[in-house]
Amino acid sequence: MQLQGAIALVTGANGGIGQYYIQGLQAAGATRIYAGARNPDSLRKIAATDPDRIIPIPLDITDESSVRAAAEAYSDVNLLINNAGVGFNQRLVADINFDKVRSEIEVNYLGTLRMCLAFAPVLKANGGGVIVNMLTILAKVNFPLNASYCASKAAALLAIQGIRAELAAQKTLVVGVMPGTVDTGMSKDFPPPKVAPEEVVRAALQAVIGEVEDVYPGEQAQEMQAQLLQDPKAVEKWMAGILAK
Ligand SMILES: NC(=O)c1ccc[n+]([C@@H]2O[C@H](COP(=O)([O-])OP(=O)(O)OC[C@H]3O[C@@H](n4cnc5c(N)ncnc54)[C@H](OP(=O)(O)O)[C@@H]3O)[C@@H](O)[C@H]2O)c1
Repeated sequence: MQLQGAIALVTGANGGIGQYYIQGLQAAGATRIYAGARNPDSLRKIAATDPDRIIPIPLDITDESSVRAAAEAYSDVNLLINNAGVGFNQRLVADINFDKVRSEIEVNYLGTLRMCLAFAPVLKANGGGVIVNMLTILAKVNFPLNASYCASKAAALLAIQGIRAELAAQKTLVVGVMPGTVDTGMSKDFPPPKVAPEEVVRAALQAVIGEVEDVYPGEQAQEMQAQLLQDPKAVEKWMAGILAK
């Protein structure tokens, strides 16, 4: 799919990576970018830089009526970017907080699923289109200090594989983006290395153009993916060892 002329919708557009999706899509020549946020006022400044193309829209992906209204109102979308996410740096045994577990599942898994379901017919009507999903390499192996986030992203990864299979018939490309730590507010308590959000967006948009389904932006994610292919148990044990440090 060419990005020139694309009509995109980005969820969590006011977040660390979301803002770079807007800029990346602008630079690539998208015709319109619906920038979704729970509080669209937070996008006023960025929208003012290109008001004909950047349209802030209210969107809470945990709210069925909000998602349904977006799919009805923005029926010209041919590129959906499921970027919204939450992470609470929670272990699963020590100090578990079920409200936070539920929130991670609600946003990262069910919210992403809800968006895919609502926009599948829209994308079909517009020739197939593309769904980009912001996952993480931690969807493939658990990092125990952030265990419940990993579980929610693993659920999203597996859901996306099923959605990809079902939407193949309508020619919708479904992309999973799996970086390591990205340098945004979400990872402020994490040590380096961190990949720049611009690099994540560049890799994701390149995947759209090149029709690549699985993307690993940055060295950290690429190395971890290579190790996971070689010896997944060793990676799990290495992650578990971090708890003992
Ligand atoms: N940062 C990392 O290290 C990293 C690594 C791998 C993957 N990711 C993934 O990349 C994506 C973007 O993360 P980020 O680093 O840019 O984090 P961020 O700066 O915290 O941005 C998260 C965005 O998600 C939005 N959001 C949260 N709940 C929502 C809901 N119910 N409905 C709609 N929007 C909602 C937030 O909006 P509000 O302002 O309304 O809260 C915010 O715009 C996430 O899916 C994250 O899991 C991040």
